[in-house]
Amino acid sequence: MIEQKLRPRRMRISENVRAMVRETNLSAKDFVYPMFVIPGENKKEEISSMPGCYRYTVDLAVKLAKEIYELGIPSVEVFGLPEYKDEIGSSAWDMNSPVQRAIKAIKEAVPELVIIGDVCLCQYTSHGHCGQLCGHYVDNDATLKLLQKVAVSQAQAGADIIAPSDMMDGRVAAIREALDENGFINVSIMSYAVKYASGYYGPFRDAADSAPQFGDRRAYQMDPANSREAMKEVELDLAEGADIIMVKPALAYMDIISKVRDRINLPVACYNVSGEYAMVKAAAANGWIDEKRIVLETLTSMKRAGADIIITYHAIDAAKWLMEK
Ligand code: PBG
Ligand code: ZN
Repeated sequence: MIEQKLRPRRMRISENVRAMVRETNLSAKDFVYPMFVIPGENKKEEISSMPGCYRYTVDLAVKLAKEIYELGIPSVEVFGLPEYKDEIGSSAWDMNSPVQRAIKAIKEAVPELVIIGDVCLCQYTSHGHCGQLCGHYVDNDATLKLLQKVAVSQAQAGADIIAPSDMMDGRVAAIREALDENGFINVSIMSYAVKYASGYYGPFRDAADSAPQFGDRRAYQMDPANSREAMKEVELDLAEGADIIMVKPALAYMDIISKVRDRINLPVACYNVSGEYAMVKAAAANGWIDEKRIVLETLTSMKRAGADIIITYHAIDAAKWLMEK
């Protein structure tokens, strides 16, 4: 007879034993909820490829921000759909644009909620690219000057954290300099340091009306095949003064989250993007998966991989589910 002495199953015997030895505990405090704001008043439009997510006018965004804060979620990231678009995306730094108005109004209504402003130009340019064009090429250094204006305008509106998602070289240093020069020394930078050129952004581009009108973003976002290059991007953003490093998307890039976590001493964020959300919602709507279970498992895995901060469209549901337990 085999005498089995080593029995890891002892530590799985009951829920309380499992709770005692659990290595990763997911909490609403880990989440950031992304919000889309639009011009107008008292309107909320469902995003067809992201069931359960809406675009809100500023007044309704403020109401939602209060609910989010009451659920224990510490932060929101604000994305905007502007009133007008042009070649250089100038509505991105217009203080009357929905993003700037939303940041200001949310800060007044819920001052403790940490507001992250997404800094990019693709929602604001007529061509849908993330910067100023020179022919069909996105001009890196000309774009930096525009990103500086966007960052300062969001800080002026009351953003606590600026999150550049454009993938231009040198944007963290440029934004840090502009923030400091304008007296915003305590506004932090969460860099989308490792952002891949991903098919998982599809639903977001519908939501934010930000798809490129020609070509794609492969000349500035990273090649999904690369991992060492991710470390290069992280090193540069550290040197330029980033306060938080983000990896995006999350689900297909858990190895990158884990590697970044092991290599640096800054907080690591990951972005559980629109396509990841849409896949779960579609399968759940068909009754093929248990949504609550899958969402909590996936978010826990992102934390286990090394993310301190998880930006997710599931934040509100997940925070409610975590309270039930
Ligand atoms: C804009 C931006 C994108 C996302 C966040 N900021 C899309 C893109 O780069 O095309 C993706 C978010 C998501 O898919 O949920 N630069
Ligand atoms: Zn962009």
